Amino acid sequence: MGKTEELKKAAGVRAVDFVRAGMLVGLGTGSTAEFAIEEISRRMRDGRLSGISCVPSSERTKNFAEAMGLDLVELDSARRIDVTIDGADEIDSDFNLIKGGGGALLREKVLAQNSKRNIVVADESKLSRRLGERFPVPVEVLQFALEAEKGYLESLGGEVRLRLARDGSPFSTDQGNLIVDWGSGEMDDPSFFADRLSARAGIVEHGLFIGTASDIIVAFSQEVKHFVTSPGS
Ligand code: A5P
Repeated sequence: MGKTEELKKAAGVRAVDFVRAGMLVGLGTGSTAEFAIEEISRRMRDGRLSGISCVPSSERTKNFAEAMGLDLVELDSARRIDVTIDGADEIDSDFNLIKGGGGALLREKVLAQNSKRNIVVADESKLSRRLGERFPVPVEVLQFALEAEKGYLESLGGEVRLRLARDGSPFSTDQGNLIVDWGSGEMDDPSFFADRLSARAGIVEHGLFIGTASDIIVAFSQEVKHFVTSPGS
């Protein structure tokens, strides 16, 4: 395992310390979240955890968690998610996030908005001073509105690219929408842009996660640090 993978694993494993028996757990998408999923499965098998049900944030995560033997359930109005563990593509100094590198931003945001606690797990390379410094903002767009929303994003500045799948065809989300990666450049005020993007009917959702994280667990080479950003709701 490479150094970055080791750090991702360290962050993912630490997050599982906050999972308790009987909890409903939201499962994020991506390699760091998958280390947490593996750890939940390990602790279920060795008896350290029991009675865990999980809500996956993507088809990829659903398949992975099923293979790990976890009990998967649908989002339910009767029961809020106790804790969601998810990765991020970029984390700024106010703990706002860019997410959606794996294309799962819509369901990830749904989980974040329906969880009592949102733990974001990352290796240190994800930290930046300002969002947009190192990662474009993934924007999920209705196919019908693609050209119009690309034009809108261009009017905000920066480069706009339709995301392609490995075979060169347009990447399709779990909802059958498209992803446009918007190279916004560094953002002084990401909330300003989040509000603009949210106001567009052709934009289904965007990867700016403002104030959603309650905890950030970052693995550095020497140690794993846990930052508590808010008590959660
Ligand atoms: C998935 O859509 C993203 O939001 C992921 O959480 C993000 O891309 C992090 O991925 P890694 O953990 O693989 O770096």
